[in-house]
Parts: sequence; C-alpha cells; structure tokens
Amino acid sequence: QVWNPSGKYRVVSTKSMPGDRWIRLLTDQDCRVEICTEEKTILSVDDILTLIGDRCDGLTEDWGEVLFSALKRAGGTSFSNMAVGYNNVDVSAANKYGVAVGNTPGVLTETTAELAAALSLTAARRIVEADQFMRAGLYDGWLPHLFVGNLLKGQTVGVIGAGRIGSAYARMMIEGFKMNLIYYDLYQATRLEKFVTGMLSSPFTSYGQFLQVNGEQPVTWKRAATMEDVLREADVISLHPVLDKTTYHLINKERLGIMKKEAVLVNASRGPVIDEAALVEHLKANPMFRVGLDVFEDEPLMKPGLSEQKNAVVVPHIASASKWTREGMATLAALNVLGTIKGYPVLGDPNS
Ligand code: DGY
Repeated sequence: QVWNPSGKYRVVSTKSMPGDRWIRLLTDQDCRVEICTEEKTILSVDDILTLIGDRCDGLTEDWGEVLFSALKRAGGTSFSNMAVGYNNVDVSAANKYGVAVGNTPGVLTETTAELAAALSLTAARRIVEADQFMRAGLYDGWLPHLFVGNLLKGQTVGVIGAGRIGSAYARMMIEGFKMNLIYYDLYQATRLEKFVTGMLSSPFTSYGQFLQVNGEQPVTWKRAATMEDVLREADVISLHPVLDKTTYHLINKERLGIMKKEAVLVNASRGPVIDEAALVEHLKANPMFRVGLDVFEDEPLMKPGLSEQKNAVVVPHIASASKWTREGMATLAALNVLGTIKGYPVLGDPNS
C-alpha cells in the first residue's frame, strides 16, 4: 500500500500500524509512505532487503548489521522501532552505519503496567481456570473451596526493574490493592524511590488521608539490597527490567526455588528474562505457584509443557495493546523518522 506516491522521502513500514495520524504526519511532510500489508509477524532478512529496495528512510522491524548496512547503501538515515524495548535492535551497528534509531517510550507506560496488574490479579484469583471450568459446564453450585486464590490486600508486591513501567505498576498495586512494596533495580534506584516516598509519606496524598480516616495499617515499602530478598519476601513478583546480557535468564531454576510456594510471578517485559524451561518444571512441581506471562522466550512459541499448566495465565504480547497507546506508538515512531529526515533530534533515541 502506497500513500503520496510522489513524496520526496521514502518511508517504509514493515507492518500496518494503527490509526492514520502517523500516515498523515509523514505524507504532509513530503514523504512517500509504503506499508507492507502482508500480515507476517516476523519478516525475514530477505523480505526486509526487498522492502528497502534502492532507497528508504525509515522502517520498523528487527534489525542488525546486515540490514543496517543495506539501509545505509540505500541512502536510508533512520530506523524507528515501534516499541519501547529495543533489544531487537543492534544499536552499535546502527551507529556504525550512521542510522538514527528511535523507540517509543512513555506512551505505553500505563497500558503495560495495567496489563501486568491484570495478570497479577488474574493469576492470584485463578480467573482463567475458573472461566474454563464454567465454559466446560462443570459448575455445580457454590463450594467453599472452589478456586480459592490469594487475597492481594496486605500482601507484599515485589517489583524487579523500577523504571517507568515498574513504577506505574507499583503505584497501581499500592493504591489499588494496598499491597506492601519491596523492589529491586539493577541500575537506577531513584525513580520508584522518589515516587513511593512522595506517595506514602506526604500528608497531602489522598492515600495517606485515606489510611488515617479508615484507621488502616499503613502500607510499607522498601528497596531491597538484593534481588533474592525480593524473591524471598514477595507474594506477587512482577518483572520490569530491560533485556540485555545481564538480565538474560535472570529468573532461573535456583531463583524460582527461593520464591514462596504460593507466589505469583508476572512477566510483561521480555521473555528471555525467565528461563522458561525451568519455569515449566517449577509450575509442574508447585501447583500453587502461579504465573502470568505476556512474553515468551522463543516468541511466538511457548516452551513445551507450558500451555498444559493450569497455574499459568498466558497472553500474546498484548501489554501495550490499548487503542490510545498503539496509535501513540505509531505516531511517535513516525515522528522519529520525520525528525531524522528534517534534522530534529529523535524523540526516543535509545543512545540518549
Ligand atoms: C515494547 O514497547 O517494548 C512492547 O513490548 C511492545 O508492546
């Protein structure tokens, strides 16, 4: 599909992106926009080389050395990733070929955190199992032990990776469910720390007043000295680190072993953060341990045995899938390409 065929700058999108605002933005600025309408989730290197053709100024897909050099040869200057995570992009290869790289932070923070919260609740309260039970016509009437799960209020939520999304998730779990917080961050301490300090100690926050009025136990929070402290103490653990060499298989057999037997583990970050084969074994051995997964180690596949585990809730990488967010991501991705063409700084430049 081609928009504004006579446009000066050629912008190729490897997928059709939601809304038309991003197309308007580009075509209004003299871009010819080509959208690959073949609904393949993963394009091969050859597919992308064909798309680049002889000239191209921006794309969205998994990128490394071969593709960046081809983009450079074709006169391309910009690569825009429609995601905040850019583990699919070899940024040093892009730098080598002088191609600017952009990502889409910010617009998906709340949506992604909401999905992590939804997975936490769904796994803790066994909602998918209960739904399947109903649909199978197995409900025979109320029973005291039917799908008994965990009450979140007063339990401890553990957050690993306290950046934008981890902080928003922590806020939801504290404010929404009055959970205590323990968190650990590999790189930055301050974002979530500032946030919880402000929220829990200021007499002006609605939460502080609410606690006083109702005479409830105040929520506690602490930054853990080690990740193991979080794994040991938390009842619900949500993973929000970036994926890099240091976080690959961050959750492995040993670390699964130190979590509570009835803990809930949620991952809406990147699949390889968990050793999924070890997780499957852990789920089999610990039926009360539950997991909520939005991402998988070998996406789009699940490791053998995972789909049979009743204590696993699995969804297909939909954390940022709200209409508002996806349109925002597409707009930001287009702005990043446009910025490079017009010489403005790239908004979500992961080098910055
Ligand atoms: C991201 O932005 O990194 C997400 O995984 C896409 O939803």
